Amino acid sequence: LTPVDQIIENVQLNDRSYEIVINTQQESLFHHHLQMWLSSKPHLQLRQPKAFFIGDENTKPILKSLAAQLANQHWTVGEAIVPAGEASKSLDQLSGLYDRLVAFEADRRTIVIAVGGGVVGDLAGYAAASFNRGQPFVQVPTTLLATVDSSVGGKVGINHPRAKNLIGAFHQPLGVWIDTAYFNSLPDREFFSGMAEVVKYGVIMDANFFHELERDVHAINRRDPAVLRHMIAQSCRLKADVVQQDEYERTGLRAILNYGHTFAHAYEALVGYGTLLHGEAVSIGMVAASQLAEKLQRITPDVTLRQKNLLAQFNLPIELPANCKLDADSIIRCMKLDKKTVGGELRFILPTRLGYVETVPSVPEHLVREVLNA
Ligand SMILES: NC(=O)c1ccc[n+]([C@@H]2O[C@H](COP(=O)([O-])OP(=O)(O)OC[C@H]3O[C@@H](n4cnc5c(N)ncnc54)[C@H](O)[C@@H]3O)[C@@H](O)[C@H]2O)c1
Ligand SMILES: [Zn+2]
Repeated sequence: LTPVDQIIENVQLNDRSYEIVINTQQESLFHHHLQMWLSSKPHLQLRQPKAFFIGDENTKPILKSLAAQLANQHWTVGEAIVPAGEASKSLDQLSGLYDRLVAFEADRRTIVIAVGGGVVGDLAGYAAASFNRGQPFVQVPTTLLATVDSSVGGKVGINHPRAKNLIGAFHQPLGVWIDTAYFNSLPDREFFSGMAEVVKYGVIMDANFFHELERDVHAINRRDPAVLRHMIAQSCRLKADVVQQDEYERTGLRAILNYGHTFAHAYEALVGYGTLLHGEAVSIGMVAASQLAEKLQRITPDVTLRQKNLLAQFNLPIELPANCKLDADSIIRCMKLDKKTVGGELRFILPTRLGYVETVPSVPEHLVREVLNA
């Protein structure tokens, strides 16, 4: 039953271990894999299994087709569709989902299935983490960003009106189902935004992967399925390696995933969410972080140059666009308020070479200012 072009990665977390299955146009195998995941969890097995699907307006066709497949296999299925966009990561939408789960008579064996980008994954995942003190859940990521980043690692949550991702939990999925065909309807800008996180993995952990991305630029931009499967598998593998060593973000290792993000979070907050997509802000932020590393004499300019070239080939911005110029003072103020900042100290994840980064505490403010003013 395993097609030759299917790739499976494993996330090893003791009794919370799971598979990431990466396919192209193999949706008919979804039920088979779901059954496999359940077969190792006797406490979840039911003669008449139930699944509750959560998606948004744009992922509804994918959701409908997966739900129909399970219904054909005699599952009882329910669904909820939330509005597309970051605003759905709210208490209001969460509360609506609880109402729907109650009406569906969801019990501890009902599988919650998130079909969508990071917004749906985070929201549905948090509903699953909290309803009944924890429902089993499955991630079906449909954006590139969700595929290579948010669907792996178990971080789920919603926003507080004053701060992003402030309310949440760690809740690992039963499995992650990826089909590159889901990107067929994904707008180019969303696709490229996801590429920023892919490039990030190369810079922080894997110089060889970075080199492969340079080599495969054209195939990736054509969305060649075989190249995408390999690229997604390696991205998920690298994220899983970090998560396996620091599941709850305690040792500091998981923080390396925040390369470029201290800058990015400030840009996003200041220009208003939605003006810059997350990956676009990360792209600009990685270049800024790399320039900061140059100023600290940690790297030579060629390391920054390679990142700029690669990001630009994926149509990503490498500096703030003219219509969102920000002054250095407000960016620095915003960075000091970042929830990952300790006592107003400026600390950054910075490269020491391509493929390796370190946390650098107490970075002098005037150097950050120089980078921002350059
Ligand atoms: N949990 C984590 O570890 C983690 C990591 C990174 C990001 N995130 C979160 O992820 C969110 C961003 O995720 P995102 O970039 O996927 O945004 P998103 O979920 O808003 O999706 C972007 C847009 O694409 C649409 N879309 C999704 N799949 C589609 C498809 N196949 N075809 C057509 N349109 C489609 C969506 O409806 C939306 O309009 C943020 O809230 C961020 O905080 C979480
Ligand atoms: Zn990110």
